[in-house]
Amino acid sequence: MLQLDHAFDEVVDAIAERGIGIFPAFLDSSRIEALRRDFAALPSWQLTPAGIGREQAHHTNERIRTDKTRWLEGDSPAQRDYQALMAGLQLQVNRQLFMGLKDYECHYALYQAGDFYKKHLDAFRGRGNRRLTTVVYLNDAWQADDGGELLVYPEKGKEVLHRVRPEAGTLVCFLSEQFPHEVLPARRERLSIAGWFRVDDPVAPTVLL
Ligand code: OGA
Ligand code: MN
Repeated sequence: MLQLDHAFDEVVDAIAERGIGIFPAFLDSSRIEALRRDFAALPSWQLTPAGIGREQAHHTNERIRTDKTRWLEGDSPAQRDYQALMAGLQLQVNRQLFMGLKDYECHYALYQAGDFYKKHLDAFRGRGNRRLTTVVYLNDAWQADDGGELLVYPEKGKEVLHRVRPEAGTLVCFLSEQFPHEVLPARRERLSIAGWFRVDDPVAPTVLL
């Protein structure tokens, strides 16, 4: 737990200073393994084409994203452990940055070869209820020519701010309203858990740029 508190502090500091942080080896190998096994045990019909927004606002658009997702509902020990970990991060962020984060939703996302997610924002300033985005990756030995990198852009401007390989254990955490980002086409299977800390309940759609 000491070790984790330390990791949470680093995330908090990065968010406070830059609005974004990238943390290789945030997840230890036993968590990575447990989540991979949990994902592999899901029946394939539970994986559905990813939507833009949630529930009423939910629609799919395969020109924008082609991955398949499955929400974590806490129905396995691995999922509950991951949600508990993120609850710890939420507590730390709220204590130190007063962001008032109320809940956390997250989904597995599977990108098969050729899948992508075009440049988008996870929330729209002033209207979005998603405040803080997390993405963790579950892929071993990701090579440069495997594609599938996450490109993060500054709020204004086209230059790439960060180029992240989706390597197992890496956490990317950023202010949802501030950083446009995209997933380049993957050339092999790419598994991640994308999640959002929210400030309240209303449905807020993802906004495309
Ligand atoms: C998302 C997203 C990034 C990634 O699901 O909104 O931007 O690297 N995911 O998987
Ligand atoms: Mn996103």
